[in-house]
Amino acid sequence: MSIQFEIMHKDIAGRVGRLTVGDKRIRTPALLPVVNPHIQIIPPAGMAAMGIEGLITNAYIFSKSADFREEALSRGLHSVLGFDGLIMTDSGSFQLSVYGSVDTTNETTISFQRDIGSDIWVPLDIPTHPDAPRETVEADLAVTMSRLREAKELFGDDAPLAGPVQGGLYPDLRERAGRETSELGFAFCPIGAVVPLLEGYRYKELVRSVIAARKGLSSAACVHLFGAGHPSMFALAVAMGCDIFDSAAYALYAREGRYITPSGTLKLAEISELPCACSVCRSHTADELRSAPDKERLLAYHNLAVTQAEISRIRLSIQEGTLWDLVDERCRSHPRLLDGYRELLKHAHFLERSDRATKRRFFYRGDESCSRTEVIKFQEMIPRIQLGKRSLILCGGPRPQEFDDVLELRPPFGAVPTELSETAPMGQSEVPEWDDAMLASAFAGVDALLSANPDTDVTFSTTPDLLDLIRRRFPAAQVIS
Ligand code: GUN
Ligand code: ZN
Repeated sequence: MSIQFEIMHKDIAGRVGRLTVGDKRIRTPALLPVVNPHIQIIPPAGMAAMGIEGLITNAYIFSKSADFREEALSRGLHSVLGFDGLIMTDSGSFQLSVYGSVDTTNETTISFQRDIGSDIWVPLDIPTHPDAPRETVEADLAVTMSRLREAKELFGDDAPLAGPVQGGLYPDLRERAGRETSELGFAFCPIGAVVPLLEGYRYKELVRSVIAARKGLSSAACVHLFGAGHPSMFALAVAMGCDIFDSAAYALYAREGRYITPSGTLKLAEISELPCACSVCRSHTADELRSAPDKERLLAYHNLAVTQAEISRIRLSIQEGTLWDLVDERCRSHPRLLDGYRELLKHAHFLERSDRATKRRFFYRGDESCSRTEVIKFQEMIPRIQLGKRSLILCGGPRPQEFDDVLELRPPFGAVPTELSETAPMGQSEVPEWDDAMLASAFAGVDALLSANPDTDVTFSTTPDLLDLIRRRFPAAQVIS
């Protein structure tokens, strides 16, 4: 019954994969809707009809429920919930983080999850609040790690156990936690204690924490971002290598009359149109939805449908190699997401190692595009380009004959030998009229080329408008126009 994860397609550090536990299999990235047995606003059978292959519920709630405990133990979780897809259970750790204590132990909660037939069991990790001092984070992490070891010892290497990664806002602790969790043999690793970061729109710190955990974790691990359920940040999280999300947002937001869109949340009370293609939005006007007797259920359906559609869009963009475009688009919908995006780009060297070699396209979308992995991949290759004594760099000017090597300036990449100009990523790149940022990035590439070829005399052939700029930037070079 061990957990298996296969990766089929990659883009940035994101992947399209397949998670298999026993006879259950789900496509990833995946959203596991949170199901509360007491309040099933959308019954799990209805979720299956929406294409949902897995869900998550809370074993602690089941274990403390007069109504559900014995039923789950005798009939099994799948029968009680009426869902035969993959069911993951959480341990009670979240209650621990909210209420400060729980009435169970690591061994008791895992045994209970096993006995009710859950497909993925979570130990009793400690989600330390991100603003806790380092000593608290370290002490809690030590307890979490000892519970992960204990879980493996008591339930065996083949048990379908998740290995949560804690460590708060300390990148070294997150990375160490990730490494140790992978060394213990966990193939499914949720990154924990990020809910307060998500609630506070602290995307920059989220990115730092996830990247650090990812650095420690094996790249073969299936990574779950615990408690992340708003679709506007899925693309960003997937780009870092998160494969699984769980969402209570669809239901919690519906209760508060909030209408989820892939770029943010609207208040149903304030909107005049329903800008969505789901069946609820196409069969109701905004006024009708506001006054519908089952408004909360309809809104929850819409919220889940748009969340699920974003997952499909992400899987598609990974297969096409256009995930950067989606990250760029989504992260412009809120300034704090833009902070997260800019933080992500600071880690582009790390991301570049997992990125694929060829993509469908490189569309330049502004300054941020200069830091993308494709630019870094090309610029890291530049020192291997060997030039003859006399080289020409075409920047839109004439092409005299007498040169050993001819290159084209291809912002934002650099100077590209003409024989490579149709190869990836330059061959697939489309840029608008050159702007300062892409020229600066290309000139940095030229610097790298010139330092790798100190004996080359270089001539730039340029249009008149770039003449002065290039003369100033490369005073030792010849410039013709
Ligand atoms: N749900 C949200 N965050 C967490 C976490 O850190 N650990 C567990 N077990 N569940 C969570
Ligand atoms: Zn809708």
